[in-house]
Amino acid sequence: MRRAIYPGSFDPITNGHVDVICRASRLFDELIVAVASNEQKKTSLFSFSERVDLIEQVCRDARNVVVMHFDGLLVDFARQREASAILRGLRAVSDFEFEFQMALMNRKMEPGIETVFLMPREEYTYLSSSLIKEIARLGGPVEAFVPSCVAKALEAKLRAK
Ligand code: PNS
Repeated sequence: MRRAIYPGSFDPITNGHVDVICRASRLFDELIVAVASNEQKKTSLFSFSERVDLIEQVCRDARNVVVMHFDGLLVDFARQREASAILRGLRAVSDFEFEFQMALMNRKMEPGIETVFLMPREEYTYLSSSLIKEIARLGGPVEAFVPSCVAKALEAKLRAK
């Protein structure tokens, strides 16, 4: 069984993430989308459980995709779940330095787990959760960038603030 972990903050999940999930679900027997608690990022718009819930709604029809959350080191979580790969999306060269550093550090800590990079469709390469949150905060349209349940959740969250 080839199992991969797709970790991230997913605050919130975007169409770029969804594209990477679809591609990876064709490559692996099981894909675990793993939402990091990210204690160090105090600025999350959506709570841990809201982020998980949105991904579950988006991935409802993907039969080999499961959504989980994790605390602590990614490699410990990957080992616990017996995953052979960590999956990350690469959008642009600007992503590379951080991703390269993280991949090598994770490999140092756990040589048995490979990091695999996938590129989303070109039209999603400029998407990021942070930009989408900023656009939504400033009243701009986000429907083209996120699944519809996420657009609704963004609107509700910002209205409540
Ligand atoms: O979507 P993000 O914020 O770019 O995801 C970053 C994430 C969650 C994958 C990274 O911060 C992470 O792996 N966090 C878990 C803690 C950990 O293992 N840190 C050491 C990384 S070398």
